[in-house]
Amino acid sequence: MKTIICIPTYNEAENIKKMLPAISDLKLKNVDILIIDDNSPDGTSAAVKRLNSKFKIQNSKFKIFVLDRKKKEGLGKAYVAGFKWALKKGYDRIISMDADFSHNPKYLPKMIKKSKDYDVVVGSRYVKGGKIVGWEWYRYVNSYGANFFTRLLLRLKPKDATAGFKCYSRKFLKSLDLDKIIAGGYAFQVEMINLAQEGGFSITEFPITFVDRQVGESKISGELSRSAKIIFKLALRKKTYRQFIKFGIVGLLGTIIDLGVYNLLVFKFNFNIYTSRIISFTLAATANYILNRIWTFRSKEKKIAKQYIQFFFISIIGLGLNLIIMKSLQNIVSGIEEELLRINIPVVIAITIVLFWNFLANRYWTFKKH
Ligand code: GDD
Ligand code: MN
Repeated sequence: MKTIICIPTYNEAENIKKMLPAISDLKLKNVDILIIDDNSPDGTSAAVKRLNSKFKIQNSKFKIFVLDRKKKEGLGKAYVAGFKWALKKGYDRIISMDADFSHNPKYLPKMIKKSKDYDVVVGSRYVKGGKIVGWEWYRYVNSYGANFFTRLLLRLKPKDATAGFKCYSRKFLKSLDLDKIIAGGYAFQVEMINLAQEGGFSITEFPITFVDRQVGESKISGELSRSAKIIFKLALRKKTYRQFIKFGIVGLLGTIIDLGVYNLLVFKFNFNIYTSRIISFTLAATANYILNRIWTFRSKEKKIAKQYIQFFFISIIGLGLNLIIMKSLQNIVSGIEEELLRINIPVVIAITIVLFWNFLANRYWTFKKH
């Protein structure tokens, strides 16, 4: 088993001069290092090469490679280039690690040991025993919040979804089309863990203490909105979210049918409002059932009558729920002076809750895949 530690660098000359000896001192067997440098103005690449010639004399088993890239393209792009290189050279395990000692090299032996049993090993700040030292409160809040929403949105199981200290198996990296990775920057870490979970690869976390860098500065500023965009994009690729959006569109269409037919019956055919509503609701629910069956959930289930009844049943409960929510919100909103708000807030809340109810009930009951 051959392992490579991939370290992307941008202006890390001082750090890397200490990091390479620190890793060398661990005397790890079958472990090489790849520095992926984006043409750092501070001469990181040259510093590595100077050190390398020293190491070569001392320890022939320990290899340091440098991948020189023309310009700064972001953390994700640097890793993609490094991982491609590592796969081509035949490494079995590929580690990602920062140059600035936030990821203490002392964890490497543990990480490598665990990688025998898992496709992805995460050095985690957010599992029991994990810690962050030296961050200002706002960076902590930022990272914690980003991690929380990322996990919620992508439904990621690992506690540290943005972790940068990881070990990947060759099998996992080989399964990916690295050119299709959409994150060029820090969201790369999230995209990778998301791919691992979606692909059903085994993932484990172990606690680390993440210490803020002593030398140089973080390149993360300005990455928040860029990363958020990537995370939304990844979320939209998930089937359940796409289904939810389709379900919402179908619901909107149903409402239009419901209202249209209702008005037609009342004004053109002089039906009473209750009869009209029963007919319009039935038609709208039927149309929605058909659209949700063939478009939203693409169901192939043969028992159409049963499905239709289930769908109808859920819709009626949804209707009842609508009224109950509106009624119970009346007292709460009665204090609001602005009439437009007073009238509309309960409706908006009711519609939102019922949309979720209808979606979940249909997704996990009516259109449940066997
Ligand atoms: N080649 C290259 N190109 N390297 C880069 C680039 C780039 O555009 N941007 C950053 N790096 C390198 C840095 O030189 C450092 O070695 C490593 O990537 C991490 O960058 P930092 O700027 O130190 O990141 P951080 O400490 O703010 O962020 C850490 O925590 C994040 C989560 O809170 C990292 O571990 C991230 O990966 C992690 O997502
Ligand atoms: Mn850092």
